[in-house]
Amino acid sequence: MDRLFHVVEAQQFDRSLLADIFSVTKEMEEVVSRYGSNILNRRIMATLFYEPSTRTRLSFESAMHRLGGEVMTTESAQEFSSAAKGETLEDTIRIVEGYADVIVLRHFQSGAARRAADVASVPILNAGDGPGQHPTQALLDVYTIQKEIGRLDGISVAMVGDLANGRTVRSLAYLLAKYDDVTLYFVAPDVVRMKEDIKDYLRRHRVRFQEEKDLLDVSRKVDVIYQTRIQRERFGDRIEDYEQARGRYVVDMQVMEALSEQARVMHPLPRVDEIAPEVDPDPRAAYFRQAHNGLYIRMALLRMVLEA
Ligand code: CP
Repeated sequence: MDRLFHVVEAQQFDRSLLADIFSVTKEMEEVVSRYGSNILNRRIMATLFYEPSTRTRLSFESAMHRLGGEVMTTESAQEFSSAAKGETLEDTIRIVEGYADVIVLRHFQSGAARRAADVASVPILNAGDGPGQHPTQALLDVYTIQKEIGRLDGISVAMVGDLANGRTVRSLAYLLAKYDDVTLYFVAPDVVRMKEDIKDYLRRHRVRFQEEKDLLDVSRKVDVIYQTRIQRERFGDRIEDYEQARGRYVVDMQVMEALSEQARVMHPLPRVDEIAPEVDPDPRAAYFRQAHNGLYIRMALLRMVLEA
């Protein structure tokens, strides 16, 4: 098995390593059903979060606890760490690597995880870097598609919502590009269309993609609708753009009627109003199961980067 160290961006994985990660992830599901393990006994994970989080931070922390390790955490790190006194990210990493065996970093700047990895002697796990990437989310998304639909080659996915600011869709596009015969549909308000760097990457790797406007029409032909939140926090004072984008595409019962019985609705969460609550009881609504898979993926990553 390839040695895994930093997890910075979704492009870094190849299919063989992805298969290894998903195999360990399946084992981790069994470990949780047996009430955990002590394989990371005496190992320490630091979580440095400069942006808010529920799922990513708590699932990483739960993952470390369930493997018998220890956790140190700073949330609101911009305010409650020495970043508030002007310490650089690089200096913070050089300090924390002396206290912990692995660092999980969420930061508000695109490229922050790469900067941290460039100076770190312990593994850096990118837990989201501004509008850049969220590779561990993409891993759990792809694992969820495999588990729910049963395949990745030949999959068709509609990415919907805030595709310009959404780090989850960016990482997911990079990761799905590793598989064969994939089709992506980008359904986004004009002000938050998918950026050119991702489209260029897909062209270079011969991945089919189309930009579409009609969510109902797209819903009839996809295996997965991957809905995302319009990210108010990334618009700054562009309130009009935000209002234009918000509520434009909602997954509601009409969309569910158009979707095939085998298809799934996914969302990285949190949601605001872009999936109607009436959709939740539908067995094709996979977003809460998807979030639970984050625990198993993060247990697998911690085990793989920390194994002797
Ligand atoms: N999906 C995700 O990154 O959620 P959090 O912001 O709650 O971590």
